[in-house]
Amino acid sequence: MRILCYVVALFIALTTFSTAEARIKVSGNGEQLNFDPESIPPNLKASYDTMNQVCTNCHSMKKIVIAVQTGKGPDTKQPFDKQAAKAYCIKMLRKKDKVLMTKSDIKSVYQLLNYLLDENAK
Ligand code: HEC
Repeated sequence: MRILCYVVALFIALTTFSTAEARIKVSGNGEQLNFDPESIPPNLKASYDTMNQVCTNCHSMKKIVIAVQTGKGPDTKQPFDKQAAKAYCIKMLRKKDKVLMTKSDIKSVYQLLNYLLDENAK
C-alpha cells in the first residue's frame, strides 16, 4: 500500500513538473499531441488551421510541438529556433510537388511558428 502511495505521489510530482516545463499550452497526447487551439490568438487561427492541414500530410503535429517545446528537432536533434523554422518551411515548400502547399500557406505557418517560439521562450 505504501508503495502505491509513493508511486501516486511520484506520478503527481512528475506530471506537475512536466506541465511547468511546457511553456506553451498543448492538447492531446501521443500522436494526437498538438498546440492547444484555445491558446492561439484570433489573428493566427487561420494559420493554425493551415498548419494542421499542410503539416500533417507526412507526420503528426507531435513532431512540431516537440520541436517548439524543446527547441530541438526530434529527428535531427538540431536546434529548432526561428532561423531553423524558416529553413524548414522553405525545405517543405520544395517538396510541394508531393503535397499541395502554397507559398502563402508556408508563410502563414512560419508566422505561427514564430509566435509559438516566442511564447515558449517567455
Ligand atoms: C512532404 C512530407 C512532409 C510535410 C508536408 C511536412 N513534413 Fe515535417 N518532416 C518530414 C520528414 C520526412 C521529417 C523527418 C526529418 C527530415 O527529413 O527533416 C520531418 C520532420 C519534421 C520536424 C523535425 C525536424 C528535426 O530537425 O528533427 C519538424 C519540426 C517538422 N517536420 C515540421 C513540419 C512543418 C512545420 C510542416 C508544415 C510546414 C511539415 N513538417 C510538413 C516530412 C514532411
